[in-house]
Amino acid sequence: MENTVVVGAQFGDEGKAKITDLLAQNADVVIRYQGGSNAGHTVVLDNKKYKFHLIPSGILYDNKICFIGAGVVIKPDDFQKEIKELISEGISEERFKKALKVHPLAHVTMPWHIEVDGYSENALGANKIGTTKKGIGPTYTDKYARTGIRVEDLFCEETLSKKLDVILPLKNKMLTEVYNLHGYSKEVAMQICSEYREIFTPYVCFEWQKLLDDAKRNKTILFEGAQGVLLDIDYGTYPYVTSSNPIAGGAGVGASVGPLAIKEAVGVFKAYITRVGEGPFVTELTDETGEKIQKIGAEFGVTTGRPRRCGWFDAVIAKYSVLVGGISSVALTKLDVFDTFETIKLCTKYRNVKTNEVTEFYPTNVYTHCDYEPVYEEFAGWMCDTTNIKKYEDLPQNAKIYLKRLEDIVGAPIKIVSTGPDRDQTIFV
Ligand code: GDP
Ligand code: IMO
Ligand code: MG
Repeated sequence: MENTVVVGAQFGDEGKAKITDLLAQNADVVIRYQGGSNAGHTVVLDNKKYKFHLIPSGILYDNKICFIGAGVVIKPDDFQKEIKELISEGISEERFKKALKVHPLAHVTMPWHIEVDGYSENALGANKIGTTKKGIGPTYTDKYARTGIRVEDLFCEETLSKKLDVILPLKNKMLTEVYNLHGYSKEVAMQICSEYREIFTPYVCFEWQKLLDDAKRNKTILFEGAQGVLLDIDYGTYPYVTSSNPIAGGAGVGASVGPLAIKEAVGVFKAYITRVGEGPFVTELTDETGEKIQKIGAEFGVTTGRPRRCGWFDAVIAKYSVLVGGISSVALTKLDVFDTFETIKLCTKYRNVKTNEVTEFYPTNVYTHCDYEPVYEEFAGWMCDTTNIKKYEDLPQNAKIYLKRLEDIVGAPIKIVSTGPDRDQTIFV
């Protein structure tokens, strides 16, 4: 396998973790490049479910280096909790010590970031984003405002002390006067940082330049994305987005090896679309068909437990996603969810209900999305079980017709079709 990035191509939860787990078999190093514990990634292995938020799912193998890259933001207590939970699920502590590496340049989510995330969502009221309240936006805000704390800072008391002298007066003014929250004394902040240092001590990788230089020259790297292109801070349904770059280009920044190290970008799409949190969704189904997809697809969030909104596959979005997400091939998941559907719809264009104009290009101003209705093509369902099919030729004819049309319109080849959560419920096309 060539160095490959796995990109969520819709609104997140496309089944990236399953595809990452699958492709990790042929990789030596797995690098997560953006996001934080807002992600909820599920891998099913031998009927056992493993849940990941920050840790690359490559940890399920005993011989992969799992790297949390510089582009990630880390909430230390979530990081610690996740390791403990995975150890209790049977992954050995030794494996974590050997394989898990944290980039010293990753930013740390501080308690005030969580508080500000909660405050901002409440203050926005009806206009809230519906964040996961993991402090993602505020942590990235501080990163770009140059007032963030990085993992490496925790390991140098002098630096930390100097940084806090700069950060805290401004931060406390904001916390108390703008957000009506409590401030932090330097003593308390130093104490929190010292607890965080303990958490990171076994995993921080100060030798990252040597390790990644070797990986780039001699090893196969799999780049693991979180969220999805339509949640991208630059290209997503702004402002209803997360605060990082899930697009393949994000890996060029967040994984410390540059864009030319990436040879293939697998865009993971569901055979339909889901969205958790607020924001526009042109093909959303609020009727019993939507409920049926939600029920059969078990569409509930891994991180927050919230029900996911469901709708038909939107090829306008998918084409856009292939373009801006830098996607070179498609992994289509959850085809099996349609096994009992007599009819399946595919949105190929949007019609503007005010002007009657039809477009196949994604309108980036989301405040106009309420003016668009989906234009659908209809497909006959296959009405049979696909969950045990291993070869493309064995798929029912109607499934092949749906896949062929989807591939043509999206403009990237479908290389993987998934018909169940397990590693072996996969068809390589
Ligand atoms: P991620 O965030 O993109 O990794 O996706 P999530 O783990 O949040 O959600 C995807 C869910 O779908 C998980 O529960 C997976 O186990 C499950 N899943 C993945 N692929 C398939 C598939 O082909 N069929 C079915 N039925 N479930 C799948
Ligand atoms: P994975 O990696 C689905 C959504 C939130 C909210 C918006 C901003 O499992 O696909 P944030 O907490 O990031 O500031 O929230 O982004 N969101 C996700 N939706 N899957 C995810 O991750 C998500 N991570 C964030 O629901 O709408
Ligand atoms: Mg998820």
